[in-house]
Amino acid sequence: MNPTTEFASHRTSGHLLEVRGVSRRFGGFLAVDNVSVRVNRGEILGIAGPNGAGKSTLFNLISGVPFGPTAGEVIFDGRRIDQMPAHKIARCGLRRTFQAEQLFPTLSVSDNVAVACHYLGGRGRSAKTSAESALETVGIMKYRDVPAGEIPLLAKKKLMIASALVAQPRLLMLDEPAGGLNNEDQADLILLLRELQKGGLTLLIIEHVLSLLRELANRMIILSSGELLAEGSPDAVLSDPQVLEAYLGKAAA
Ligand SMILES: Nc1ncnc2c1ncn2[C@@H]1O[C@H](COP(=O)(O)OP(=O)(O)OP(=O)(O)O)[C@@H](O)[C@H]1O
Ligand SMILES: [Mg+2]
Repeated sequence: MNPTTEFASHRTSGHLLEVRGVSRRFGGFLAVDNVSVRVNRGEILGIAGPNGAGKSTLFNLISGVPFGPTAGEVIFDGRRIDQMPAHKIARCGLRRTFQAEQLFPTLSVSDNVAVACHYLGGRGRSAKTSAESALETVGIMKYRDVPAGEIPLLAKKKLMIASALVAQPRLLMLDEPAGGLNNEDQADLILLLRELQKGGLTLLIIEHVLSLLRELANRMIILSSGELLAEGSPDAVLSDPQVLEAYLGKAAA
């Protein structure tokens, strides 16, 4: 197939993201093993699975941060991105957050977002406007002059989301956004994520808090030992006996 026809076939597939048989090998160990998944425009796809299943590694492979796949292809909005450097992938409209807290604790909340904006090529007045609009979107403007290390946990989580939103992505990938939050804060986060979806954003959410995925996700996938174990509606996936055995069984043990 020549590159032009290949491009055309990606464009007509209608999916915002298509992951085709990606793998990541570390020495003799396959952390992600031939995983394929398609993400529709505007949907929220939930990703769950036991610790070490390869969920965060799958995000690495899609975003190129800090590394891409050792096999397979990633197609975003009709363009093959798995060979691109990470900063170019980000500029295609795809952003991720990290499982670990990623912020500059001594910098103010607004400077944290400004740094993210700068990294993505934003400068001057437009960078400041984008940063403020991202803070407003996630609802943490009141903390804008406070050092990021001193704000409540929910606000930190929202700051990481704001730092990703400042690039105005079309696909936002969140790695355990609810980790450590109490029920009330989780409910607040759910409202925000639903608003982002209503605004046209497509979301991939890795989460151990299954109630959050049950409430938000249009579809879910389950990873186990690097492989795709199940795919479907949250209700179907979370009642699948294989999933209960691999995931819930382990968690309950
Ligand atoms: N850079 C690396 N080098 C070697 N092994 C790695 C590397 N990154 C991840 N792994 C291994 O790959 C497997 C999958 O890890 P990953 O972090 O993707 O799991 P996860 O599903 O996100 O787990 P958790 O729910 O605990 O966050 C683990 O066994 C991990 O130790
Ligand atoms: Mg992880």
